[in-house]
Amino acid sequence: MLHVIIILIQVENNYLFDPNLLEEICMNETTTYLKGGVSLSNPGEGLKLRPLSADDFAKGCYLDLLKQPNLVGQIFTETILSRFNLMKSTPSTYFIFVIEDLEKQKIVASATVVVERKFIHECSSRGRIEDVVVDEGYRGLQLGKLLVVVGEFLSKKLGCYKTSLECSDGKVEFYEKVGFKIDGKHMVKRFSS
Ligand SMILES: CC(C)(COP(=O)(O)OP(=O)(O)OC[C@H]1O[C@@H](n2cnc3c(N)ncnc32)[C@H](O)[C@@H]1OP(=O)(O)O)[C@@H](O)C(=O)NCCC(=O)NCCS
Repeated sequence: MLHVIIILIQVENNYLFDPNLLEEICMNETTTYLKGGVSLSNPGEGLKLRPLSADDFAKGCYLDLLKQPNLVGQIFTETILSRFNLMKSTPSTYFIFVIEDLEKQKIVASATVVVERKFIHECSSRGRIEDVVVDEGYRGLQLGKLLVVVGEFLSKKLGCYKTSLECSDGKVEFYEKVGFKIDGKHMVKRFSS
């Protein structure tokens, strides 16, 4: 009996963060119109939005998705899992959520919210939306917009005073459609490509 309980706990713990957090998000206040009734609870037929799970690496498809803007490079399973565990052990900081095509058991979209803790703004936090990607075969279905709106409301729920993101000039129009505005300049010094 004890054996069975331990297995159940392990399965639940495979998520990077508590799935209830997504279920508790209320997006009623959004000013972004998602066509076709697309929503957090209903991203599309046969699609489910949920936290990233360690199992998604075994399926391979999550990394295939990240390769679509080819930024993954060469990594080994152990490196990936130890990074996943590091993120998971850092409380309330990394929130990677994905959209799965349940029939194909394939991750078709993903985005990350990182929460940066601050002393300013009365020890507030800032959300950063990162790594927004939709599989080429699933683009144009409002999933990109949904990911960003979920990222926005997740940041809000986590107590952030604002959320921001960085993007190339070619993506500005896309992010403007979900209410983001250019605010200042972004400067960078790269240490590798
Ligand atoms: C950018 C990306 C996330 C958009 O995903 P998507 O699911 O196709 O987008 P949506 O279906 O939600 O489109 C939302 C709207 O933005 C528009 N749009 C999509 N991509 C756009 C782009 N590159 N530039 C301008 N508008 C764009 C769509 O026409 C649509 O308009 P509508 O709602 O008025 O019909 C997707 O193309 C992608 O994954 N690209 C590669 C990774 C990437 O560049 N990510 C961004 C990193 S900053």
